[in-house]
Amino acid sequence: MQNILLIGSNGQLGQDLIRILSRDFDMTKTDVDQCDITRPSQVAELFESHRPDLVINTAAWTDVPGCETNDRKAFEVNALGAKHVAQNCERSSCKLVHISTDYVFDGKKNNPYIESDLPAPLNVYGVSKLAGEHYVSAYGRKNFIIRTSGLYGIHPAVGKNSNFVETMLNLAKEKDTIKVVDDEVLTPTFTIHLAQQIKKLISSDYYGLYHATSDGECSWYEFTKKIFEIAQVKTKLEKTSVKEFGSSVRRPAYSVLRNYNLKERGLDIMKPWEEALADYFLDKENKLKI
Ligand SMILES: NC(=O)c1ccc[n+]([C@@H]2O[C@H](COP(=O)([O-])OP(=O)(O)OC[C@H]3O[C@@H](n4cnc5c(N)ncnc54)[C@H](OP(=O)(O)O)[C@@H]3O)[C@@H](O)[C@H]2O)c1
Repeated sequence: MQNILLIGSNGQLGQDLIRILSRDFDMTKTDVDQCDITRPSQVAELFESHRPDLVINTAAWTDVPGCETNDRKAFEVNALGAKHVAQNCERSSCKLVHISTDYVFDGKKNNPYIESDLPAPLNVYGVSKLAGEHYVSAYGRKNFIIRTSGLYGIHPAVGKNSNFVETMLNLAKEKDTIKVVDDEVLTPTFTIHLAQQIKKLISSDYYGLYHATSDGECSWYEFTKKIFEIAQVKTKLEKTSVKEFGSSVRRPAYSVLRNYNLKERGLDIMKPWEEALADYFLDKENKLKI
């Protein structure tokens, strides 16, 4: 059995990777309290004591507005942290799965991005994650770099008590009308499905860069409309724009990813985003077969 070291195990994706992988693999779980990936000595000690066959790095500083005002921390975690993990993987000849983001693109393509499209991030978070990708590909050879988008899962990161779906459902209880932006288009992705996709990918030796999101695309407004439809919420929903909403951070207006490389290799198992959302609600009720 393969020994997997999961870094970022308290995060949204980390918690669902544990649910999907721990039946078939020996898993060591770690988060910032046990090993801070910005500290090279702590990362080296972690590898020394666990000797993994494969590492999955989901750890990141995902606070997009926070990254904008503290670019030093963004680079320490998202770029240098990724470098420390990749260097140790290379030294110990183990495989690495590194998670990256749709925010490496500027959104100007207006059609789904494939892996060979040129990144051009608009914000510090995107730049720091792109730097992390470069470090991973420069320092290691047995890497799967996976870009994903709009993650949600039933276990929010430890210390955060919500995800987009639950935030909207909670707002619906408090307000008569909710306004959601309709001019940012992406593909929300359910973390259980992404974890299953990662399980499928690591069974291969097709190293490289992959886009892995649910299928299709929607705006945040359209996503919220579907959330309310499935949850039978009657609160009035209205469209707004990024300009009217007044965000402090530039984000791509269109960051849809096509799972081109997964499809080319016959490995794509991601479902349409609408079905993924329905599965999320089943998971909430403990009725999802995984
Ligand atoms: N969330 C999204 O919509 C989204 C979209 C595209 C790509 N991604 C990427 O997908 C991956 C997983 O995202 P997620 O939503 O699961 O993130 P998350 O819930 O924020 O989890 C990330 C985990 O990493 C930990 N961490 C932060 N700094 C660390 C450090 N220095 N050393 C070790 N651990 C550290 C965090 O701990 P603290 O909470 O204590 O900081 C948290 O437990 C990330 O690489 C992210 O960039 C996410």
